[in-house]
Amino acid sequence: MTVIITAGAIVMGTTACKNNEQKEVVESPVSGIRKSSWGQADGQPVDLYTLTNSKGTIVKITNYGGIITSFVTRDKNDSASSIVIGFDSIAQYLQSPPYFGAIIGRYGNRIGGGKFSIGDQSYTLARNNGENHLHGGVKGFDKVIWTAGPVVDSIAALSLSYLSKDGEEGYPGNLQVTVKYTLTDNDELKIEYDATTDKPTPVNLTNHSYFNLTGDVQSTILDHQLQIDANGYTPVDSGLIPTGEIRAVAGTPFDFTSSHTIGSRIDSVEGGYDHNWVLNSKGASMQKVATLNDPVSGRYVEVFTTEPGLQFYSGNFLDGKFINHTGTAVKLRTALCLETQHFPDSPNKKDFPSTILEPGQKYHSETIYKVGRNRETGKQGNSE
Ligand code: BGC
Repeated sequence: MTVIITAGAIVMGTTACKNNEQKEVVESPVSGIRKSSWGQADGQPVDLYTLTNSKGTIVKITNYGGIITSFVTRDKNDSASSIVIGFDSIAQYLQSPPYFGAIIGRYGNRIGGGKFSIGDQSYTLARNNGENHLHGGVKGFDKVIWTAGPVVDSIAALSLSYLSKDGEEGYPGNLQVTVKYTLTDNDELKIEYDATTDKPTPVNLTNHSYFNLTGDVQSTILDHQLQIDANGYTPVDSGLIPTGEIRAVAGTPFDFTSSHTIGSRIDSVEGGYDHNWVLNSKGASMQKVATLNDPVSGRYVEVFTTEPGLQFYSGNFLDGKFINHTGTAVKLRTALCLETQHFPDSPNKKDFPSTILEPGQKYHSETIYKVGRNRETGKQGNSE
């Protein structure tokens, strides 16, 4: 069966595939955005926005948690499938999956002991990860409803805003946040984060997309190849809180300065990779900091950012509890995250770059995930 959905200038069709799943393909791609109702969360309506570019790449985002639910690209054989974990309905997102595709805030990753001080004032945050605070707390930015800005049918961009009130999850200050997603015709998904505050507060925003470039979580990400432009990383204690040391990656399984297959050394890292890499770019300007490559599908993703750190998480806690939109359980190491960020626990580590936003300052951060494919198996990093 072929269903044609027409909305504005976008013409899309769906084709049945092996497990009866309806896979979306774009037959006459034209850049733009389409909005559709997507049920309710917290008693309020939520929407799903479909961004399409002229190459037929499709990104779907809901204003619940600013979640990227799907990122459909073509592989070397022109087969289209989503390279991120996601669900087709809001219901599954309300069951607290581990941050699949969501905006993370106010603070990406952990704050040790769930506390920090600014000057003489100490603050206690929600402790939602043992004794630590993780990804903004019990109800972080991944679980709130964002207000979408006006959309222009012909522009594949979505602006989401949220006011995080003084005291939310224990954080000081009213924080006004905007996150803008843009899908360019150059196959870049650009994410721009902006924020202002009326009291000094830590801010560290990121996106928590889980990638599997095969488009199929039946296979793990252990055969993906990763390169990270970082000579150092931040070692952690048993609660995954950085010790404060910045350690050289040279001669360790953390050395991804040249491309390595993820599975080749993962067993020598206790628990697998779940660490912050100290990028050589230092967050000084927008630079390419990592490339993830899947030799089987030919797909690759290049990561560009203005942030000084990158959390590479190899999906060590994925346990099969959630079913991806392909109908497959998301099991151990079937997806990985590349979260651009400041370093974990910075509010308690005086030698790490500061994450404190002051009134009058403007927080601004940008990250791009640029997708591409190689027609030749095993080759990486050159766009068509
Ligand atoms: C963290 C992991 C955590 C995962 C899901 C990642 O960003 O580094 O430790 O388990 O998010 O919560």
